[in-house]
Amino acid sequence: VVAGLTLGAGVLDRAGSLVEAAAPAHRYAIITDDRVGPLYAERLVASFARAAGAARSIEVLTIPAGETAKTRATWAELTDTLLDRGVGRDSTVIALGGGVVGDLAGFVAATYLRGVPVVQIPTTLLAMIDAAIGGKTGVDTPAGKNLVGAFHSPAATLVDPTVLATLPTRQLAAGLAEAIKHGAVADAAYFARVRDDAPMLLEAPGAATGPAGAALLALIARSIEIKSDVVARDARESGVRKILNFGHTLGHALETESGYTLLHGEAVAIGMALEAQLAELAAIAECGVTEEICRALDRATLPSALPPGVDADAIVRRTHADKKARAGEVAYALPQRIGRMAGADKGWAIPLSDAFVRGALS
Ligand SMILES: NC(=O)c1ccc[n+]([C@@H]2O[C@H](COP(=O)([O-])OP(=O)(O)OC[C@H]3O[C@@H](n4cnc5c(N)ncnc54)[C@H](O)[C@@H]3O)[C@@H](O)[C@H]2O)c1
Ligand SMILES: [Zn+2]
Repeated sequence: VVAGLTLGAGVLDRAGSLVEAAAPAHRYAIITDDRVGPLYAERLVASFARAAGAARSIEVLTIPAGETAKTRATWAELTDTLLDRGVGRDSTVIALGGGVVGDLAGFVAATYLRGVPVVQIPTTLLAMIDAAIGGKTGVDTPAGKNLVGAFHSPAATLVDPTVLATLPTRQLAAGLAEAIKHGAVADAAYFARVRDDAPMLLEAPGAATGPAGAALLALIARSIEIKSDVVARDARESGVRKILNFGHTLGHALETESGYTLLHGEAVAIGMALEAQLAELAAIAECGVTEEICRALDRATLPSALPPGVDADAIVRRTHADKKARAGEVAYALPQRIGRMAGADKGWAIPLSDAFVRGALS
């Protein structure tokens, strides 16, 4: 479903020739962060030396790891560095890292000299199955996350699951939250598979072979398929793409309210459990959906309840950060049952009153 997608153990070491085939360029600019760079940049550069074209010039630009670097200031530094080094139009940007690097490098590529191709090489599970898929790029601003950006589809997306071996377990689990979401919104059999495989995947992160290796590959492939299929049906988020917001309305509010002590995937995990409960209380979801979701989250070592001390009122207030919200109510993507979202006739967004949500949360 994704043009230019290559998925498999060892893809990183073949990246040079894959990139040269998909996005041939005079120069390549690898953008990475200071955690991922020391682990994998050298291997990526070495793969170019083995590629047929060879003798290309390759720049490596490194940003500090973490969300706080996903800003216009970093974008300005990166584009200035590229200009300083005389990187011209006949160049390809390569994003090597998690979603932060992918969003930022994608935005650099979308805007540099009015746009050069980008290749995504995601290195977190979240980036492999979510951030690198769909062509959204951008940076955060003081007013909120991802508020300045562009759509810029990658010329190639190279996914090597074995790089997950070095990813902290907490980050891996956070990525599993999005896989659970993909199952919940689109595929009940997949949902069950992720739930059943989660402990094995966390036990042997980045496995290249054996049952864990096969399970990891299958998970990434199916999640990419689900996300890209939904996105293809609705590239600009006017309809069915909204189902991917499941868990995210309350999740985003909670992520911000926690002062970002919760990882995005952790906040979304809690958001899915709570939104499923809203759907059950509103008689939109079948009984038992919440329990099924909580069981899957639990097996993936993800939280499913509001952390102690979090104020339901504050969460509801924060759901209004979404500019599209009308006074006194917010639209939610809600499940009907596992694998099926509700509200096809309402544009996949179901308005719930603040009073109802507040009551359910407290
Ligand atoms: N564009 C989209 O459609 C989209 C979708 C979802 C999320 N996002 C964005 O993605 C970002 C979150 O992405 P993320 O969760 O990947 O976070 P991240 O990029 O901050 O990576 C998490 C941490 O793991 C480290 N890391 C990455 N790969 C590693 C590896 N293989 N081994 C060891 N450490 C590694 C990173 O250095 C970082 O410290 C957010 O900014 C979010 O807005 C974008
Ligand atoms: Zn998400």
